[in-house]
Amino acid sequence: MPSFAVVTFGCQMNMHDSTRMEEVLRGAGYAPAQDVEGADVVLLNTCSVREKAEQKLRSEVGRLGQLKRRRPDLVIGVAGCVAQQEGERLLRALPQIDLIIGPDNIPELPRLLADLDTGGLPQVRTVFDVDAPSFLSARPRPGSAGATAFVTVMKGCNERCSYCIVPHTRGPERYRPAREIVDEIATLVRAGVREITLLGQTVNSYRDPEASLPPGPLVAERRWQHTRGSLARQDETEFPALLYRIAEQVPELLRLRYTSPHPRHLTASLIRAHQELPVLARHVHMPVQSGSDRVLRRMIRRYSAAEYVERTDALREAVPDLTLTTDVIVGFPGESDEDFEQTLELMRRVGFVGVFGFKYSQRPFTPALQLADDVSEAEKGRRLERLFATVDERKVAHLTSLVGSTQRVLVEGRGKVQAFSATAGEGTASYTGRTERNEIVHFDAPWDVTGEVLEVTIREAYKNSLAGDLQELPPRRAPAASAASSTRPGGAQPSRVGQDGRRLLPVLG
Ligand code: 5AD
Ligand code: SF4
Repeated sequence: MPSFAVVTFGCQMNMHDSTRMEEVLRGAGYAPAQDVEGADVVLLNTCSVREKAEQKLRSEVGRLGQLKRRRPDLVIGVAGCVAQQEGERLLRALPQIDLIIGPDNIPELPRLLADLDTGGLPQVRTVFDVDAPSFLSARPRPGSAGATAFVTVMKGCNERCSYCIVPHTRGPERYRPAREIVDEIATLVRAGVREITLLGQTVNSYRDPEASLPPGPLVAERRWQHTRGSLARQDETEFPALLYRIAEQVPELLRLRYTSPHPRHLTASLIRAHQELPVLARHVHMPVQSGSDRVLRRMIRRYSAAEYVERTDALREAVPDLTLTTDVIVGFPGESDEDFEQTLELMRRVGFVGVFGFKYSQRPFTPALQLADDVSEAEKGRRLERLFATVDERKVAHLTSLVGSTQRVLVEGRGKVQAFSATAGEGTASYTGRTERNEIVHFDAPWDVTGEVLEVTIREAYKNSLAGDLQELPPRRAPAASAASSTRPGGAQPSRVGQDGRRLLPVLG
């Protein structure tokens, strides 16, 4: 049986696509390889949102090229955004590659590999399924489901943020029928998944293509001071209705998250959903990108800083203690010291407890290429450091404030960090999980408690996480009965790491 390995770069969307590739390949008779070196087929699932990620691909192909000199039958495939963006150009630049496959062409993988196997030429398949969009459903194998899972609700992006390559690499917005989304969630929950994260590039622009959901708004229109009424109406989507539908039809689901939303679709109806649906986690990752209106306009983000603040304030008023995290780009063309100070001011004003900060990098096919990349690398570096320092201050204060409290933690798997509890004994291992507000908590347990929701009393705050002690130990479960635990003896794999140890980065475009 031929073997495969998938190496993932980039965001959750890529991680999710990698899982679908694995399922398609298993279905076609391929077996997962022990490691990349031993695989017959290696697929590199790429990211092109920032230049650095693209460089990583080139060095990985170089490394595999050496392996291929020793094993000429090795098939090297490139999938994901770089594949979509570069297509045949990539084959010319890196002749070690046998196959280039776009995100919408994953179901064709077995056929393309079979063609190669019979001596076919290198293949390029990067066609968007615009006319008949398809969404591959998860097919969890018995006992393989983790505590958390992703479910795609839409793909592509109709925004035109001037710095962003995603509309080019992922195509126009296409939505998945609500019926399919609910079915997939129900299947995953039956397999033992406790928490679902809905995925989409602008996840909250969702509309049901089968028109089965009540169109928004679900609540009487709210008067936004910083958004004109007509614009607010354009921003209404069916995403809140989808959340209500999921909550109603899969009541066994413990927690529901979504990523990444666009601030202009943080509507009154969505805020109401957060207020009314206990299943929605009390944490939202809401990319803001900049705190300067001048920069936001040049980024074509379609909201002002005041509008962002007004909407997130309303969300926090509706859901007290909700935590917010965000994405910021520093050094966008023309960003002055004054503009950047406004970003720092916004960080403090909103009180973000986490930020993914990026230095602006020019991307092909983006409108911002017309603007001079005029902030120096050194200055971008300084701004990034100040951004992190500003948000870290708040994050540390927030985590420290939780010491002594008891938190409900959904256990995601074995942790790397030792929690060093005084009660640690033989057989005790470190586990890690997250609270509803997305704080990461490490603690010790004497047996596999993956998938359980446990009360943990917080003992210590680290820079990015918490350590605590279990309040009460749940009964030990027989491995077979524990659908959420891994098949590996001695504990489950952390859900944020793929089956072959792939690391998952926390955001998408
Ligand atoms: N340069 C730097 N950061 C970028 N991002 C997207 N495009 C670029 C770019 N050209 C960041 C945004 C987005 C996150 C996924 O990546 O902050 O939210
Ligand atoms: Fe779309 Fe997000 Fe990229 Fe803007 S930043 S174009 S919303 S994917």
